[in-house]
Amino acid sequence: MSRRARTRTPRDSAVEARYIVMPQHANDLGIAFGGTIMSWIDMVAAMVAQRHCGRKVVTVSIDRLSFLAPCHIGDHVLLRSSANYVGRTSMEVGVQVLKECPYTGERVRATTAYLTFVALDRREKPTPIPPIHPETPDELRRFENARLRVAARKELLRRLTRGVSS
Ligand SMILES: CC(C)(COP(=O)(O)OP(=O)(O)OC[C@H]1O[C@@H](n2cnc3c(N)ncnc32)[C@H](O)[C@@H]1OP(=O)(O)O)[C@@H](O)C(=O)NCCC(=O)NCCS
Repeated sequence: MSRRARTRTPRDSAVEARYIVMPQHANDLGIAFGGTIMSWIDMVAAMVAQRHCGRKVVTVSIDRLSFLAPCHIGDHVLLRSSANYVGRTSMEVGVQVLKECPYTGERVRATTAYLTFVALDRREKPTPIPPIHPETPDELRRFENARLRVAARKELLRRLTRGVSS
């Protein structure tokens, strides 16, 4: 059965990736650039969205990001990502970013990101996304929290674009 036809839980499309911070990723303090971490986040989350939808997807928004702990050259950066919520043609994907000491295994939360993707049909127009079925207590909590964020984003967008013509 194709990915598009199947009902999917967040676990079905989850992605975990690990990078090591190299000198080319870092600034003159030896700390990974925020933009480097953001590009890892975007790629990992896009894979989750592709796996959930079985279609091409584009990133339409990334919520505000706060960098909570510096990732130094040599640190491992662990990204854990799963689908939180599905609307009609858009879905929210969450990414938890941890920095890990390669020698002790100690982990510290570096940031958490929420991205919205839109699925596209063959004409590259928004197209419906298969529903998501959260099962575990964590999946259900993420689904409920994402539902609130989606409503808040829509309201903010509505207010900010009221009376604005392109
Ligand atoms: C994404 C894109 C196709 C959406 O087109 P659009 O005409 O705005 O489509 P719609 O108004 O029908 O919105 C589609 C969905 O996106 C959501 N959406 C649109 N703008 C959004 C935003 N700024 N933030 C969050 N969600 C948004 C809508 O709520 C809708 O969701 P729903 O169907 O689940 O209710 C278009 O904006 C685009 O091509 N953007 C560029 C994407 C890109 O280049 N990304 C970087 C490279 S991947």
